[in-house]
Amino acid sequence: MPSGAYFFPNGFLWGTATAAHQVEGENTNNNWSAWEERPGRIAYDQRSGRACDWWGGRWKEDFDRAAETNQNAHRMSIEWSRVQPGPDVWDESALDYYREIVRGLVSRGLRPMITLHHFTDPLWLVERGAWEIDDTPGLFEGFVRKVVSALQEYVTDWITINEPNVYVYGGYLGGGFPPGKNDQGAAFRVMRNMLLGHARAYRVIHNLQRSARVCFALHYRGFRPASSWFFLDDVVANTLSQQFNMSFINTLVNGKFNFMLKSQYMPEVIGTQDFIGLNYYTLDLVRFNLFNPREAFSKRYFPADAELSDSAFIANVPEALMSAIKWLRRFNLPIIITENGLDDADDHLRPRYLLEHIHQLWRAVNANWQIKGYIHWTLVDNFEWERGWTQRFGLWGLEVETQARIRRISVDVYQAICSINGISSETVAQYCPELLPKLFPG
Ligand code: FCB
Repeated sequence: MPSGAYFFPNGFLWGTATAAHQVEGENTNNNWSAWEERPGRIAYDQRSGRACDWWGGRWKEDFDRAAETNQNAHRMSIEWSRVQPGPDVWDESALDYYREIVRGLVSRGLRPMITLHHFTDPLWLVERGAWEIDDTPGLFEGFVRKVVSALQEYVTDWITINEPNVYVYGGYLGGGFPPGKNDQGAAFRVMRNMLLGHARAYRVIHNLQRSARVCFALHYRGFRPASSWFFLDDVVANTLSQQFNMSFINTLVNGKFNFMLKSQYMPEVIGTQDFIGLNYYTLDLVRFNLFNPREAFSKRYFPADAELSDSAFIANVPEALMSAIKWLRRFNLPIIITENGLDDADDHLRPRYLLEHIHQLWRAVNANWQIKGYIHWTLVDNFEWERGWTQRFGLWGLEVETQARIRRISVDVYQAICSINGISSETVAQYCPELLPKLFPG
């Protein structure tokens, strides 16, 4: 067997990502807690409840786990409704607690990366119309100013908004997120206001902190034509990619916001990103639906030979991570993978998924492309939005009732990678020998 290793550059970031509502527990003042109370909105009407009990202090033991297994970074989010529970109310004790948590990262050698908006909005903002109204970018700026002032001693990597496209498709184009609308006009307004909110956040962060590095997190989904010879499949793939993957980030470069058959010139958002946060999970094959023109663009399925996650939510297609990175190179900015992972309760597929995706990442690094880190979703099983507790994305499992953490084999795989800053043939031989011919051909 040939032996060797694929090493990453010094200082490469290895970590996991979480989001406040998914791990903290006892969040009762935001759009998702209200959504959870409505029957039929969440799988089996499950609730986030105590979640992973981070607000109760269990972040300490989970950060210990991350640090002890050689991770050196962690991405987490700040819950707006805790810091600003009412339009004119700031909760300094919540901010103090976030300072303690972030200090907890730094003291364990975990570099903090802070997300300022990860799907949740305070209820008072929802009552005003959330991101549909034009005041919201300014209100968000106020929240960002407050948080950055409080945390800038410890943090320089900031993610303004997580996956604006998922927020918009989920909430405003029928995707099962609150507020449960299906309204293209509202979707356009929300996306536009998120662009403005992002740009205002970018500026206020840089005004407060010159060394800051700011991005939004782009959810990039691969769309590949089902038949390469059928041009209409190509049209579908390009249109979906343009709408879902590209509309937000392109606007940050050229100011031309095109979405849902509408357009607007937004010069004020140009140039407001210092790096790219890429969330990549999976790819769809798409086919033009000849028989049902009203649903011409909605035929999507996973490649027949791809391995699927537990709930068939994610197909393991690592090459599409490379395609995403190739496409992103045009922006000429450093890239950090800010999410990547799958739901796999018994951990039969995750080790392979991890190794294959990180191997693709290494290929990009080896071509001298500016890849700065890999942040896996997620550290410990947590509340998966409208899918509740039915999906298990953690390196560690969670028994929700008892709060017990269960170490999965993937912890060892990821530790082996983080500890040598690369993938060795020994690691592959030990955990996924079937990958040896592909990763270390003789
Ligand atoms: C992403 C979300 C994250 C988590 C993963 C599985 O779209 O950003 O909160 O739900 O999917």
